[in-house]
Amino acid sequence: APVLLLWAVIGYALGSIPFGLLLTRIMGLGNLRTIGSGNIGTTNVLRTGSKKAAALTLLLDGGKGAVAVLLARALVGEDAAQLAGLTAFLGHCFPIWLKFQGGKGVATFLGLMLALAWPVGVACCLTWLAAAYLSKISSMGALVSAVAAPLWCLLLGAPVTTGLAALLAVIILWRHKENIARLRLGTEPKIGQK
Ligand code: G3P
Repeated sequence: APVLLLWAVIGYALGSIPFGLLLTRIMGLGNLRTIGSGNIGTTNVLRTGSKKAAALTLLLDGGKGAVAVLLARALVGEDAAQLAGLTAFLGHCFPIWLKFQGGKGVATFLGLMLALAWPVGVACCLTWLAAAYLSKISSMGALVSAVAAPLWCLLLGAPVTTGLAALLAVIILWRHKENIARLRLGTEPKIGQK
């Protein structure tokens, strides 16, 4: 239906705004692409040394996922909300403005899950926090949280979101393939390290 296509495009447009890149540029923190992992997300923004920029990146990258879902749900319905959440996530990972070389999707995934099914979103955030706290490694939090998301959908009464959560988990794993290689070698940096 054309209305669904429209929300797919709106979701993608919102998701493709690279807040980490924009904020670090505006705040004069250097070129993210030459810092740490070169990624545009919160974890790498923190490697500039600015906690403020990192917190804002987390809020805005998560917020764009949540806004896409909430707008689509309010104006159309649940199908549009799921689709806009998915395309916001894809927009973050594959933004046309950056020749499709975007981020790893973790903050946007957390934001859209909070908006789609808040108990699942809260569980995913807590899973991220627990895994990151135990390992002191951001990508470990991301991987454990992403893999747990479809299970949380089933356990917490959001079965219609399970398929989307599983798809996002697969893409998040794939986007973290360099992190996974470093984790296996034991060279993945701890949170805040360069
Ligand atoms: O959210 C991305 C995080 O899981 C890893 O980021 O910069 O360490 O590759 P980074």
